[in-house]
Amino acid sequence: MKQLIETPAWQTLATLSRHSLALRELFATDPQRFGRFSLNHDGLLLDYSKQRVNSEVMAALHALWTSAGVPAWIAKMRAGEPINASEGRAVLHIALREPAARPEVRAVLEKMRGFCADIHSGSWRGATGETICDVVNIGIGGSDLGPKMATQALAAFHQPNLRVHYVSNLDAAHLVTTLARLDPKRTLFIIASKTFTTQETMTNARSARAWLVAALGEAAVARHFVAGSTNLAAVAQFGIDPAHAFEFWDWVGGRFSLWSAIGLPLALAVGFGNFERLLAGAHAMDQHFFTAPVAQNLPATLALLGIWNTNFLDAATQAVLPYSQSLEHLSRYLQQLEMESNGKQVGRDGQPVGCATAPVVWGEPGTNGQHAFYQLIHQGGRLIPCDFIALKQADFDLPGHHAALLANCFAQSEALMRGKTLAEVRTELKAGGMAEEKIQQLAPLKVFPGNQPSTTLLLDRLDPYSLGQLIALYEHKTFVQGILWGLNSFDQWGVEYGKQLASRLLPMLEGKQLVSGLDSSTTGLIAACKT
Ligand code: F6P
Repeated sequence: MKQLIETPAWQTLATLSRHSLALRELFATDPQRFGRFSLNHDGLLLDYSKQRVNSEVMAALHALWTSAGVPAWIAKMRAGEPINASEGRAVLHIALREPAARPEVRAVLEKMRGFCADIHSGSWRGATGETICDVVNIGIGGSDLGPKMATQALAAFHQPNLRVHYVSNLDAAHLVTTLARLDPKRTLFIIASKTFTTQETMTNARSARAWLVAALGEAAVARHFVAGSTNLAAVAQFGIDPAHAFEFWDWVGGRFSLWSAIGLPLALAVGFGNFERLLAGAHAMDQHFFTAPVAQNLPATLALLGIWNTNFLDAATQAVLPYSQSLEHLSRYLQQLEMESNGKQVGRDGQPVGCATAPVVWGEPGTNGQHAFYQLIHQGGRLIPCDFIALKQADFDLPGHHAALLANCFAQSEALMRGKTLAEVRTELKAGGMAEEKIQQLAPLKVFPGNQPSTTLLLDRLDPYSLGQLIALYEHKTFVQGILWGLNSFDQWGVEYGKQLASRLLPMLEGKQLVSGLDSSTTGLIAACKT
């Protein structure tokens, strides 16, 4: 494969990046900048006018899209070709949200619909005849982050009288503190695991089972445990009735599995109709991604801006800053999506890709972040591209809240773009009546370099449809970036090594095997735990 870094488009971008663009000037000289560098599509506004780009840069980025053959890769994905080559699998999460879904997908969706109706109507009863009021999803990674993020995001749509909890961590504190508040007679567990072998999930599942059996007896398991998995044999072996196993398939990647049976806790939280609207929103974004020309294509634009920032402006991180408490877990979800997919240095062809790949994705909802780490974004001297995400219309509102929230969001991106010069600081302090001596002391501390790139994504509102669009937007962004970097975005060999070493250390920690053959640090740490 000819590496993208050798293409003329890449070389053009490298040349363009040598002339630093000053956002303040770009706005001052072009009153139409917002109109020229923003996209509107189906209730989403993507304003990238505060990115350090001009028409030339965008044209070169569009050329890069063509050089990398992204449309051909999209066609391969849609055709079900095994583009996850290292695992020999197709990548077809898009098929889970097709309105005319394949029969096996439709059958599981119908099973989920029926199950949700039974839980919500109270016709599903626990072993003692009581209705379910708490659902505990036990899963980790893709079997946790997506449904957890979406359940929180759609808090305004929650079903009454049903609470959905998420337990992921191997640390018993997670399960113990969750169960402490629950009544086994009215609790349903969903064991969510693509493989049904993941250590964290299986350990928590066994402990949850023991908790239930201690309270209600072995026979109660059938009424209190269901599963979402591709491994139905292991589900049955765990003691879950196959009638209560919700299947999905190896062509659904873990971090792309929210749309499958892994979405069951979400469907229970918000109702199956809302889950279907989420699928519809994602499908609408799929159609946009597949058909819109690159210059109008939202996922393509996000992806290409990320390439510009990472590979040409040397940004090492990407902040995700939703001005929405409901999107509290979005940055953690995107961490797995982008970093597990594209945090790789060896390409599809087994060769080093020769350029930086996925940035460190991180963030917190505004305004909380403003009082924690924004100081560094404003004055820390590092290039930190930011994605601001805001809602035109609040999902929860009280007088005086939403306009103030939006004012903060827009003010932050403005401040990051404009910065404040020493001369401006001096004028401001002088106007405030400060003595010259004090001004000299303080002014340098109050300078803001600015020119910090950001994108603002404005959603009309946060509802199941727009959340589906938003998640699919980032999924396709991740896919495009993987193609451009020459990666297989759908495997994750990097998580294997730690698992392998942990299974070697476990018997030593448990005292079942002598501590030997380890480095002195690991030996010392194990010894310290035993004293
Ligand atoms: O972190 C590695 C990983 O394999 C993820 O890709 C996956 O989402 C997670 O573990 C959980 O896997 P499973 O759903 O099989 O339990």
